Amino acid sequence: MGDAGNGTALPDAAALAEAGLRLDVDGAVATVTLDRPERRNAMTFALWRTLAAIGRSLPADVRVVVLRGEGRSFSAGIDLKMFSGGGGFPDGADAAATDRFIAELQEGFTWLRNPEIVTVAAVHGHAIGAGFQLALSCDIRVVADDVKFCMKEPALGLVPDLTGTKPLVEAVGLNRALELCLTARTVLADEAARLGLAEIVAPAGKLDEAVDDLVAALLAVNPGAAVATKRLLLEAPGNDLAAQCAAERREQRGRLREMFGGQQG
Ligand code: CAA
Repeated sequence: MGDAGNGTALPDAAALAEAGLRLDVDGAVATVTLDRPERRNAMTFALWRTLAAIGRSLPADVRVVVLRGEGRSFSAGIDLKMFSGGGGFPDGADAAATDRFIAELQEGFTWLRNPEIVTVAAVHGHAIGAGFQLALSCDIRVVADDVKFCMKEPALGLVPDLTGTKPLVEAVGLNRALELCLTARTVLADEAARLGLAEIVAPAGKLDEAVDDLVAALLAVNPGAAVATKRLLLEAPGNDLAAQCAAERREQRGRLREMFGGQQG
């Protein structure tokens, strides 16, 4: 695989396969496939670290990243073997070390918010726990009508800690997020669309087609405007109106400079 825009090499095919991933970069579109279908794409610490490495080394001309799952499900969440002896979980006694450990795993999820890319989760079948959080980390969720979202962590004695709580609350509101997490119930496609957990619902056999249509539409937009708009929208929940108006002016100055070459800055 080629060198990335920032000079870091992408993980090679062997490293990807070992982590249970595939990566296909085709011009402006990178497709990351969770590729352990015989384990319903259960995810390991190595997988999340490799995802972070992909995020650090994406070629600069990639504009859209699609995340999908091979086989019957998007992902059954964390590989439950991680909970058994030798799985590699810290016991929490050393707070700083545990914090670093989790932060490193979270890096596998945070890069999906980078304004330079638009991220699309193509979700079918089960998206449980970490699988749900991975989908929540993407900008747009296209789901098959057989999707089953479930935030299972509290039922297993843990909290969702892979960056999913913020987008969950922002999508469905605090009370619904509490209800979903503390019952660990399953959300099907119709409800997911109603709650704002899915932007597009496609028949199960037409998920790829729906994703391709979306990607084509995303690529048709001016690249600079897409980056500036995502940056702007990401700021909105944390800004009051005055701050967001200022952010709109800041981003538009950049666009005007780019489009008309004037001296507005
Ligand atoms: N970890 C490891 N192996 C898993 C797995 C997981 N999360 N999910 C499925 N598998 C394995 C099964 O053990 C099974 O292996 P064998 O063929 O060797 O028996 C194989 O994948 C196929 O699984 P099923 O036969 O169960 O497939 P299914 O289609 O009938 O059911 C399923 C799919 C509903 C996802 C079911 O497998 C399941 O409930 N899996 C566990 C889900 C889970 O609890 N995940 C953890 C969520 S919490 C989290 O992710 C975050 C955190 O930090 C705690």
